[in-house]
Amino acid sequence: MRVLVTGAGGTLGGAVLPRLVAEGFEVRATSRRARTGSGVRWVVADLATGAGVDEAVSGVDAVLHLASSPTRRTHQVDVLGTRRLVGAAATAGVQHLVYVSIVGVDRVPYSYYRHKLAAEQVVAAGEVPWTVLRATQFPQFLDELLRMSSKLGPVIGDRAVLAQPVDPGEVAGELIELLRSGAQGGIVEFGGPEVLRFDDAVRTWRQARRSRRPLLPIRFPGRLGRELRSGGLVTEARPTGRRTWVDYLTDTYGRTVAR
Ligand SMILES: NC(=O)c1ccc[n+]([C@@H]2O[C@H](COP(=O)([O-])OP(=O)(O)OC[C@H]3O[C@@H](n4cnc5c(N)ncnc54)[C@H](OP(=O)(O)O)[C@@H]3O)[C@@H](O)[C@H]2O)c1
Repeated sequence: MRVLVTGAGGTLGGAVLPRLVAEGFEVRATSRRARTGSGVRWVVADLATGAGVDEAVSGVDAVLHLASSPTRRTHQVDVLGTRRLVGAAATAGVQHLVYVSIVGVDRVPYSYYRHKLAAEQVVAAGEVPWTVLRATQFPQFLDELLRMSSKLGPVIGDRAVLAQPVDPGEVAGELIELLRSGAQGGIVEFGGPEVLRFDDAVRTWRQARRSRRPLLPIRFPGRLGRELRSGGLVTEARPTGRRTWVDYLTDTYGRTVAR
């Protein structure tokens, strides 16, 4: 099967490409800049402008759409860019488009999530047979969030927020299963093996990094806070991935962490 992977140079892309190649897929990968490597054919495409998109989808059987821009030009890239991609894929006769979204986009009132939900709707309304895979947070994202939220010293956050980190390699495995089984015309969720409270995640993160930074608890207000504390980012979908937050910390920081 010939597969195009958008946003292939990102965190999830880095986990998907080697698995696709190892499983014998013929892989084309997009980035906004010229790249080489990973045993795939790289093409330059920009979803915000449409440059290179028609060429990228030409001649492929399926698209794994991972590209996203959470912090800037989100509407242009995630919503309008997805519309461009779906239109080009329809014209090229693509048989299956898998869009990677996030568990909670329909519940948690973040601006980024509103754009992801709108992009899901673009995919569902398009002419290409589709599947949406909503994953929970990658541990790399949680790690980065904790580093950002401790820039001023203490780790600042709402201790009762619930998260369910999932290994991107395991998400990659799910994506390959979806490619093999064909378009479902629906949404599938996939999460990590355990639901963590924010304060627990911080405790093990501090141990792994030998950090003395204390947790400075705040309470996120309003509906956002309520959704985050009541499991808006968590899925009951089974099976789940197997690799835990502590597995990630151990691999990343090189020391065993007590649970
Ligand atoms: N991070 C998480 O915890 C998480 C959890 C669940 C689902 N997801 C979803 O999974 C997908 C992949 O996430 P990720 O963490 O791997 O993202 P990432 O590391 O931020 O990678 C996203 C990629 O999108 C590409 N991109 C950005 N603007 C673009 C544009 N204008 N045109 C074309 N490509 C553009 C970038 O590639 P170039 O710079 O090479 O062009 C970038 O490498 C996203 O849709 C995200 O919403 C993420």
